[in-house]
Amino acid sequence: MQQHERSPIYVENTELVLPPDTNHHGTVFGGRVLQWIDITASITAQRYAGRKVVTASIDQMHFIVPIQLGNVVILKACVNAVHRTSMEIGVRIEREDVRTGTNEHAATAYLTFVAMDEEMKPAPVPALKTKTDAEIRRAKEALLRRESRLKHRKSLLAQRSTSE
Ligand SMILES: CC(C)(COP(=O)(O)OP(=O)(O)OC[C@H]1O[C@@H](n2cnc3c(N)ncnc32)[C@H](O)[C@@H]1OP(=O)(O)O)[C@@H](O)C(=O)NCCC(=O)NCCS
Repeated sequence: MQQHERSPIYVENTELVLPPDTNHHGTVFGGRVLQWIDITASITAQRYAGRKVVTASIDQMHFIVPIQLGNVVILKACVNAVHRTSMEIGVRIEREDVRTGTNEHAATAYLTFVAMDEEMKPAPVPALKTKTDAEIRRAKEALLRRESRLKHRKSLLAQRSTSE
């Protein structure tokens, strides 16, 4: 049972791309970007739920432009939608070139976190109070992603049961 409503939580995190973060092309490893995303999204989910959380899934990850050695990486996360015990967190990743002052959209990710109680069992989270047009749009789009994930899972299970 969700007891009360909360407004979305926003978290911003900044990283500097150093040599150990990069591959032989001088751009960041995708896995390193995922690590930064998971941490930033996890802080967002924990602050929203007021509980510990686990990453249930990384639902989508889009790399748009490569992030270069020496870039500043800005990760902007927010709570897009909330269900009973799970939350979708969206993360926008920007690459900043401090020499030119340019800032570009480099990647986007959507993750699902589940809030946990002290016995590490899924626990309810507060309902989400959306207000702005952007918050309402993000919540609607998150619902489409959830429906698509659940439909995909149902089709896979049906397929398995017919082939067994
Ligand atoms: C995520 C986890 C808690 C779900 O457990 P479960 O037994 O399936 O729990 P439930 O069936 O009660 O589902 C709980 C919620 O998880 C969601 N969920 C379960 N599997 C999911 C998946 N693969 N992707 C997204 N959400 C998922 C359900 O939709 C449900 O959300 P809701 O209550 O808002 O509707 C469990 O699978 C787990 O602990 N996974 C490992 C997590 C982990 O180690 N992460 C990496 C390090 S943090």
